[in-house]
Amino acid sequence: MRRISLIAGVVAAGMVLASCGSDDDSGGGGGNATNVEVFTWWTEGGEKAGLDGLVGAFDKANPDLEFENAAVAGGAGSNAKSVLASRLQGGDPPDSFQGHAGAELADYIKAGQLEDVTSLYEEEGWNDIFPKEVVDQLTVDGKIYSVPANIHRANVVWANPTVLKEAGITEVPKSIDDWIADLETLKSKGVKAPLGVATDWTQVHLLETVLIADLGPEVYTGLWDGSTDWASSEVTDALEDYKTILGYGNTDRASLDWPDAAKYVTDGKAAYTVMGDWVAASMDDQGLTVQEDYTFFPVPGTDGIFDFLADSFTLPKGAPNPDGAKEWLKTVGSPEGQKAFNTKKGSIPVRTDAEASDYGEYQQDALKDWSDATIVPSLAHGAAASIGWLTAITSAVGQFGSSNDVGQLQDGLVAAAEANATS
Ligand code: GAL
Repeated sequence: MRRISLIAGVVAAGMVLASCGSDDDSGGGGGNATNVEVFTWWTEGGEKAGLDGLVGAFDKANPDLEFENAAVAGGAGSNAKSVLASRLQGGDPPDSFQGHAGAELADYIKAGQLEDVTSLYEEEGWNDIFPKEVVDQLTVDGKIYSVPANIHRANVVWANPTVLKEAGITEVPKSIDDWIADLETLKSKGVKAPLGVATDWTQVHLLETVLIADLGPEVYTGLWDGSTDWASSEVTDALEDYKTILGYGNTDRASLDWPDAAKYVTDGKAAYTVMGDWVAASMDDQGLTVQEDYTFFPVPGTDGIFDFLADSFTLPKGAPNPDGAKEWLKTVGSPEGQKAFNTKKGSIPVRTDAEASDYGEYQQDALKDWSDATIVPSLAHGAAASIGWLTAITSAVGQFGSSNDVGQLQDGLVAAAEANATS
């Protein structure tokens, strides 16, 4: 089994978030608070269903506490992260917030905004239950700063089997070139925009999967630890492929989020969308059936690679109700919480003692791949690069959406790396 070091992203993490206003290590906190305010970006569909599952488990274990939902809508935290940054800077943290394992979490840790929760790991026995490679993504200087809720896979194509069949496409494409040929076939058969795409962050998500496919796992991972040159010709070639693939996408993308792009697929307007496996939850939530209404496969050229991200929950410094927040974290890491959440969220549980048979067809497949595949960190979802670096990349990708200029995109990516990489 080959494993790529995920720690590269943590080492590369930049400092973008100003330190939280409070140096008070007491955790703030009225002694008899009953509300537990939890900040996420899960407001609709399968994401909300997942959160509701987790809240159900929390309520059951804590009848005297009240969950307060502070969710801010927008896929991948596209709106939530800036709201959260202002709250943390203004000394107004929620009791717990969602943060991605890896470089994103390292930002909050380096900014001194999180409490160390290592003692909870000891109390709950999590060191023996969570995989080491995930816990490493939550750890700085031997201290653990959050509790993982799930593992998501980002390099998945979600497809409409009927649209593919009508265009005579019967095989799963094995490479980016095969996939481009299929996109062209679909277009020639009258599917105007065969690839569903949405706003800038979803284009970053697409780009990361094309980089993985074209560069391979080692060279892709090297983009984050400085061992791969962003100015190299192999990156240029990958960006040319990205340009070609994006050219098969819908042009109204700027105003859409990922559920809209997925709906283009299920409505039969598009054949494919590239997105993480929260799509599986959304399909379930809509009552759609795998292999009939939709199908899935790894982004061509990334078979055997698991583009990884994990949602985790934190205890911010100055949380109004730190004791309540710890109860929330216990639920997040518990067998009941992980099952209630992940069976609805499309992700797989982090707990190694979970039962695969509790999960549906897609997740059983992902569970198998998680244990066999080469793991690489997701860019769009906080594992690979700091928030500042991701913001700079997203801006270059957004500009490319109107310029279509690969040279300019590559210059922007080189500048983003120069300004943000720390190694
Ligand atoms: C990711 C997050 C997932 C899912 C997705 C779409 O960043 O980790 O849990 O919510 O965004 O919003």
